[in-house]
Amino acid sequence: TRRVTVHDIAAAKQRGEKWPMLTAYDAMTASVFDEAGIPVLLVGDSMGNCHLGYDTTVPVTLDEMAILSAAVVRGTRRALIVGDLPFGSYQEGPVQALRSATRLVKEAGVGAVKLEGGERSLPQTETLVQAGIPVMSHLGLTPQSVNTMGYRVQGRADEDAHRLLRDAKAAQDAGAFAVVLELVPAELAAEVTRSLHVPTIGIGAGAGTDAQVLVWTDMAGLTGGKVPRFTKQYADLRRTLGDAAQAFADDVAGGAFPAEEHSFH
Ligand code: KIV
Ligand code: NA
Repeated sequence: TRRVTVHDIAAAKQRGEKWPMLTAYDAMTASVFDEAGIPVLLVGDSMGNCHLGYDTTVPVTLDEMAILSAAVVRGTRRALIVGDLPFGSYQEGPVQALRSATRLVKEAGVGAVKLEGGERSLPQTETLVQAGIPVMSHLGLTPQSVNTMGYRVQGRADEDAHRLLRDAKAAQDAGAFAVVLELVPAELAAEVTRSLHVPTIGIGAGAGTDAQVLVWTDMAGLTGGKVPRFTKQYADLRRTLGDAAQAFADDVAGGAFPAEEHSFH
């Protein structure tokens, strides 16, 4: 088996194939998705919310990204693993971005990195691509900017739609191999998709993108509380795991576990 590459991703757009991406934050879960044939796994800085207990992605550090990215790489054989550059690890400029991305490539073994911003992250994207690191761009709602942007649909006003199109083209021209579009109107995402030769990956961006990404804990029903409307829940892991934990607790309290077959003499 060989890993999926950015060339395979480019070829899929040529063939008009749609493909799925999921987030992953640990080796075991990643191995499940890899065996299920998910071609691209994103070690998203959404690990901040899903895995590390932060309120936003903003506090996630490069050390945390490197450790969990390495785990996801070790747990998989086939998927292309994309590591998010966390907030503060590339905004200073291309030199910082290259240093951070190089860590994820060398220490964790990721095949590509993702960063937020089109025109505003142009020098970073160009530098990484020239250095041989594939870059995925992230536009629309960019959660690392929550403190200025909030969490709302982006690109509704004409001016914002034009800016999104410009950002997408700028990312492509800088060498990005794919563009994530988060929380933008479906019509705009479809227009961006038609105007780019690199694939778009939508989340809350309608059916017109080349690929779709979901946060795995939302998709599998593990996330507690309210999940965004754009998510579809394919399992009820929170209930399943909770039931298992409760059944274990009941068995221990009632003496049903361990039974004879779990014991040694
Ligand atoms: O961190 C993340 O999970 C992401 C996806 C939502 C694209 O950036
Ligand atoms: Na992210």
